[in-house]
Amino acid sequence: MNLPRKIIIGNWKLNDTVAEGTVLLHKIHQELKGFSTATIIVCPPATHLYPLHRELTSLKSEPKIELGAQNISDFESGAHTGEVSAIMVRDLAKYSIIGHSERRTHYGETDDQITRKVAIALEHGLQPILCVGENLQQRHDGKAHQVVLDQLNTDLADVTAAELKKVIIAYEPIWAIGTGTFAKPAEIEDMLRLIRNALVQSFGQLASTESRIVYGGSVDAENAKTILNLQGCDGVLVGGASLKPKEFATIVRATDK
Ligand code: 13P
Repeated sequence: MNLPRKIIIGNWKLNDTVAEGTVLLHKIHQELKGFSTATIIVCPPATHLYPLHRELTSLKSEPKIELGAQNISDFESGAHTGEVSAIMVRDLAKYSIIGHSERRTHYGETDDQITRKVAIALEHGLQPILCVGENLQQRHDGKAHQVVLDQLNTDLADVTAAELKKVIIAYEPIWAIGTGTFAKPAEIEDMLRLIRNALVQSFGQLASTESRIVYGGSVDAENAKTILNLQGCDGVLVGGASLKPKEFATIVRATDK
């Protein structure tokens, strides 16, 4: 049986103009020339999806790079100024990050909204990259497990067992994002196990093999191999290091056994 490919996701966040993003995409492609054994997804700002989608259609050689949005609206259309809907994104991207902690914290996004976003994404053929994770206070208070379980329970409330295999879960402890301190290997394995067990409980035994669970938070060229080799780790969600083509390529290549 072929092992499932590891998933490397670059979250560019609020960085780079379209011109800069186009150069970055080409540099990543160039650095990884011929590499074909990982699923590579980049999530640029929404304004970049259309031009980068066009660039990627013209790049015929490996690696295949896929696109994800960083967010979608919890509405499909209508009077929602400033929003971008799943229906608009689906022709340009295959995935969307949903419920990133920066959206939860800075923009007050609630689990109810995230539940709707996950359902709308799936309905319109976008694969959600659902982010969950606790903050430092919650970890210190011994509440990390409960926080993540509560997020999963609510955010996946409208997902069926058949749909679950389209969802990538990203465990991103908030205290590890952008801090240069990645979670300890034992902490990551513990949380990945917790998440997988919770999915099996809610969705049945198949979820133990079909669910795709990745880690995010200060992943870089140095720690990528360690993290990717952890028990139950299907990939990584990379912020800062995904803006540096050589470093991002090193992370992708760390998926090689
Ligand atoms: P950093 O890799 O910069 O810590 O960001 C992680 C992240 O938030 C990815 O979504």
